[in-house]
Amino acid sequence: MNVDALIDKVPKAELHLHIEGTLEPEMMLALANRNSVTLPYKTVQDVKDAFAFDCLQDFLDVYYHGMSVLVNEQDFYDLTYAYLSKVHADCVTHVEIFFDPQAHTDRGVAFETVHDGICHALEAGLRDFGITSRLIMCFLRHLPEEHAFEALNCACKHKETIYGVGLDSSEKGYPPAGFSRVFAEARKQGFVPVAHAGEEGPVEYVEGALDDLQVKRIDHGNRAFDDPKMIARLAKEQTPLTMCPLSNLRLKGITDLELHPLKRALEAGIVATVNSDDPSYFGGYINDNYKAIAKALALSEEDIIQLAKNSFSAAFIDDKLKQKAHDQVDAISGLK
Ligand code: ADE
Ligand code: ZN
Repeated sequence: MNVDALIDKVPKAELHLHIEGTLEPEMMLALANRNSVTLPYKTVQDVKDAFAFDCLQDFLDVYYHGMSVLVNEQDFYDLTYAYLSKVHADCVTHVEIFFDPQAHTDRGVAFETVHDGICHALEAGLRDFGITSRLIMCFLRHLPEEHAFEALNCACKHKETIYGVGLDSSEKGYPPAGFSRVFAEARKQGFVPVAHAGEEGPVEYVEGALDDLQVKRIDHGNRAFDDPKMIARLAKEQTPLTMCPLSNLRLKGITDLELHPLKRALEAGIVATVNSDDPSYFGGYINDNYKAIAKALALSEEDIIQLAKNSFSAAFIDDKLKQKAHDQVDAISGLK
């Protein structure tokens, strides 16, 4: 089996996916029409033309603008269901999805509208595709910590459906320590913590996410590779990295996929995973990310098997399910 055929067939989990980042241009325009929202784009090509970014902030400006078409529960349902049906075709069997409630409540959309639409689609995804899921609520780091506490209060009413908390949005100038208290409270309330760190920000932010927020996974973590001590720490503590190659390329965190640190992470014994981040905006879903990085770094079939297994090892599922998923990866790859 060649590497691309293996990627197509192997079961995998996606652990770094912003549901609002799956809003395809066609759906953006259809929802703008359905909800009478005015956008600066008339055609699908106009929207695609706006998807040219020089950095994270360039993208975030378009991303927050685009999501203004999401208004009703049905919109969040349609968005989430469309994503699940796409990744079902990519042999994704488990997803851990981020959502950004503050980006919706700030413009008058109720927390429950967002939450219920996503959760009903996740239930349908289990029923129709057998995809299991976890939902992770992100705090927006460019907003004050008090706003994050308001989001946390809303999440506390939905502990049965919201599994974890994350930290996303503009990174530089917003170190993790600014969110220590809200993360401490979230952990006390039983939410599992993760955070974006080292996407654009320095390795010190990766350290801050580990020490100040006590995260269980680092989202991205690219800048960790500036510091051998941090590479050794991530390997020793087995803190997974949810890496997103096409995102890093499109936001110019790297100039060439061949420079991506994924292979170095694997060689160092870090639990590295491959994910799509915001697939509509960055030109590819999860298998596109696997294929692009496999080609750029000349990954072997064994590397792909390792990455698929890592995706389940790093998932927030119990050990029995992890073992079952690893066995399914071995079965597909012909090892068992
Ligand atoms: N929100 C959505 N995508 C993001 C990314 N790649 N980094 C930070 N915040 C985000
Ligand atoms: Zn992200």
